[in-house]
Amino acid sequence: MKEENELTYYEKVKDWNFDSFEIESDYLTNWNLYELLNKLATKDSKILDLGTGGGEKVLKSFPECKEILATDYSQEMINTANENLKKSGRKNITFKVMDNLKMNVPDDYFDFVVARNTPTDPKQIYKCLKDGGYLFIHGVDKFDCYALKLIFKRGQGTDSLKPISIVDYENVLEAGFKNVELIPLHVREYFKNRESFKAFLQKVPIINDFGDDKDKFGYPIEDDLLDQYIEENTYNGKIRLLRRYYGIVAQKQKKI
Ligand SMILES: C[S@@+](CC[C@H](N)C(=O)[O-])C[C@H]1O[C@@H](n2cnc3c(N)ncnc32)[C@H](O)[C@@H]1O
Repeated sequence: MKEENELTYYEKVKDWNFDSFEIESDYLTNWNLYELLNKLATKDSKILDLGTGGGEKVLKSFPECKEILATDYSQEMINTANENLKKSGRKNITFKVMDNLKMNVPDDYFDFVVARNTPTDPKQIYKCLKDGGYLFIHGVDKFDCYALKLIFKRGQGTDSLKPISIVDYENVLEAGFKNVELIPLHVREYFKNRESFKAFLQKVPIINDFGDDKDKFGYPIEDDLLDQYIEENTYNGKIRLLRRYYGIVAQKQKKI
């Protein structure tokens, strides 16, 4: 998947709001990034959210604090985020265009950096954190939605030799972070019907991996394979998708 292709995909998607799919989530692990962030942050905290999308999560789940900078490399996502900001009435939040891999922020400045389902360069993150500051990562791992990927014989992350969680974990350690924890996050997601499940799969790059076909952004989803998955994975009338996420918490060690 080419980076340029991925940016064009996000420019077309424009937001990252899944409310319309009415997904029911059953969490098998109780680690929650937002709970942790809200617990640790104070009114004086400065928070950076990388790859913020349309700002949905920042506006809804981040704490009220001194400063939140939320960035994304897609101008379209930032436009959506600014519209959402106006409607939210929240203060001290700024959205700006920035590539996570070419970060343009002050050194030793933030108390928290959050990167949820977006690429990171832990070395650059380390530089912009204050001593004692925290990095929180949430990601989608190699075996996410695996039963679905097996039926479609393709999908995001299936070609990677090492699970993405391990690659991230190693990079975070190599960047110099301490107290690094890697937490597997298992979630059962339920969809109420075929229509909403298909619409979801057409929006997210799970089986089509950002649309390897440059012209189409996701191949059409094969109806016979979709029906096979639904037949094998319907419980109490709802379609189940097994998610494999991971969380990473790490700290920039305080200088002694
Ligand atoms: C899967 S969405 C996640 C959005 C949000 N963090 C959330 O969890 O709801 C990924 C976001 O990362 C952004 N993104 C992908 N690669 C990026 C990069 N290199 N630099 C900055 N943003 C990036 C995309 O534009 C998209 O908005």
